[in-house]
Amino acid sequence: MVEPFSRFRVWCTRALPGEALERLAAQPDVSLDVWREPGPPPREAMLERAPALDGLLCTLADRIDADWFARASELRVVSSYSVGLDHVDLAAAAQRRIAIGHTPGVLVETTADLAFALLLASGRRLAEADRMVRAGEWGTWEPDLLLGRDLHGATLGIVGLGEIGQAVARRAKGFGMRALGWTRSGRAVEGVEPVSWGRLLAESDFVSLHVALTEETRGMLDREAFARMKRGAILVNTARGGLVDEVALADALESGQLAAAGLDVFEQEPLPAGHRLVQTPGVTLLPHIGSASVATRARMADLAVENLLAGLRGTPMPASALAGPA
Ligand code: DGY
Repeated sequence: MVEPFSRFRVWCTRALPGEALERLAAQPDVSLDVWREPGPPPREAMLERAPALDGLLCTLADRIDADWFARASELRVVSSYSVGLDHVDLAAAAQRRIAIGHTPGVLVETTADLAFALLLASGRRLAEADRMVRAGEWGTWEPDLLLGRDLHGATLGIVGLGEIGQAVARRAKGFGMRALGWTRSGRAVEGVEPVSWGRLLAESDFVSLHVALTEETRGMLDREAFARMKRGAILVNTARGGLVDEVALADALESGQLAAAGLDVFEQEPLPAGHRLVQTPGVTLLPHIGSASVATRARMADLAVENLLAGLRGTPMPASALAGPA
């Protein structure tokens, strides 16, 4: 008797830019469902779907924790449309031998561009200047109107010298900055002076964060770190909000210990209305758009789909964070 043809049941928690989902839907061995409501699926919908899935294509807005894995009894693969995987319980996935894919590489240059946009915006007070013009508060040309900090000639402390940190270092050279770098591994990168954590904090005019959020890095920019920074330094974060103690950051900005901060990521996203950082002077706020260019978001979707298909079919993933069963 011929076995009935069964297809992999896949759920994608958001419609993605580009054509990757169309290609996924056209695969003969895939049955694809896409969450098309506004916003990410609520927790109940995530839990309800889990038992009937072979593969999940999720985003960083979905919490894929041990409870979720416990319900996903048939699951083979989770492919995340992100490089960061702090929203996925990797230990629980490893225990179940679930393959985990993510999207490194393709978003490196785009994210480094945004880090530089925030360095410039915070140094030169662009958001504040824009608000002033719109509010009709631009009286006349003033010798001391909105004086900011130069990037050229300044010292940039790069925290984490992975691919994005290195791409930021390349840009720093073009801007005539001196680059200091700190990594846990002490990795050497051309054009970046490797320094201790203490020296990076003490000598940098700008500090830009490019490490993953883990239990070791959570809250690494805390009250003590801000106190060790140069007075009037500027912090840029395009990595993960959890790296920074936001209360300590707001205090450091209000006291003048820090001159400004450019933030694309937050402990809680979206940033709750009325959050203290919204009222704190000197802060440029962005809604987690580090990788948000047309080309890069389409490339991320392509890679996420390739990872997913490989995980379902048991072939090597192009970008795996955890291999599935051998
Ligand atoms: C990621 O991929 O982890 C970024 O934060 C969003 O692209």
